[in-house]
Amino acid sequence: MIPSRIFEKWWLRAFIALVVFFVWQICYAINRVQGLEEEKAVLQATIEVLKRKSDVLRTEIHEKERTLTRLDGRIEEIDTQIRDHISLLPRVNRSTPFIYFITPTHFRAAQKADLTRLSYTLSHVPNLHWIVVEDSDELTPSVAEILKRSRLPYTHLNARTPSDQKMKYTDPNWTLPRGVEQRNSALLWIQNQLSAVRSGVVYFGDDDNTYDLRIFEEMRKVQKAGVWPVGIVGGMFVETPILAGNGSIIDFNSIWKRERPFPIDMAAFAVNVTLILSNPNALFSFDVPRGYQESTFLEKVGIHRYNMEPLAEKCSKVYVWHTRTEKSKLSKEMVQKLTKKTGFNPLEAHALGV
Ligand code: UGA
Ligand code: MN
Repeated sequence: MIPSRIFEKWWLRAFIALVVFFVWQICYAINRVQGLEEEKAVLQATIEVLKRKSDVLRTEIHEKERTLTRLDGRIEEIDTQIRDHISLLPRVNRSTPFIYFITPTHFRAAQKADLTRLSYTLSHVPNLHWIVVEDSDELTPSVAEILKRSRLPYTHLNARTPSDQKMKYTDPNWTLPRGVEQRNSALLWIQNQLSAVRSGVVYFGDDDNTYDLRIFEEMRKVQKAGVWPVGIVGGMFVETPILAGNGSIIDFNSIWKRERPFPIDMAAFAVNVTLILSNPNALFSFDVPRGYQESTFLEKVGIHRYNMEPLAEKCSKVYVWHTRTEKSKLSKEMVQKLTKKTGFNPLEAHALGV
């Protein structure tokens, strides 16, 4: 029994009230902690569930991505099959020599247009490996896209023309040789990557010329070095070797710099890949007189002008034209944008491939 007088002392009453209050507070705090711990456990469980869900979703995404890649591959296969079915050229078999088609290319207003057109021509040609060498510091996505869409086997390289050899926008086109660094880079690639190859033919196909598909069938016949007429070049409607009755070359009809060892255009000939492999020094150079690129190269691979193999029905047909895309009329401001490769709106950028 608690003596009743204890409650008479006010401070004792206050003390007991305080103790009761503190005990109540402690009980409340314990309760609260328990509640929080339960909440924590629930949240942890939810996190676990979400983690498992995210793992499942991640696996699903991964699988879907794999399916997408597989389907992309399948689309490419079907595209290639369709292309082969509608091929405008005879079918090829495994022994058909490959054509290594070397294209130097540089940025300008019409580059994307020219390359697009060329890609659709080449996409009809079976057993053709397109080696595209950009005159740039790095590979450009727009050119990469054109190559990818062509469905051709290809190699995409870049080699910048040294600035002292690079023409200005306003320079006439003949001021300096073009494609030197780029063709060399492709030749070195061939020497390094195709050293074991025993057959095939190498052709320098500029990005603005026009190619009849029959030129590719002619190229495949090349034993050492083949030659054929080229339309609209050298100030003539056609530049061509002149043949004797027995079919051998006796002269060339060229009028510009007739004295050149080979008075022909780059588009007029193709050589067997073995000549490239056995003559690693056969490279182009800035250090040759204007118009002598072709001659210097052909001399370096050990060919004589009269020993070339005349093709295209004894040089009676024109299957390639040295067409040139007209330099578009551009304002000063537009030329500046082109030079700096900036300042285009999105549609212009898409048109130009930047
Ligand atoms: C003529 C010949 O047909 C070319 O094969 C030869 O390279 C050129 O002359 C020359 O003398 O150097 P042309 O139509 O005057 O050709 O030259 P372009 O078509 O302007 O250039 C030839 C190739 O080099 C093109 O594929 C072009 O895109 C590329 N190129 C041109 C570059 O890679 N960088 C340049 O700065 C300019
Ligand atoms: Mn050209």
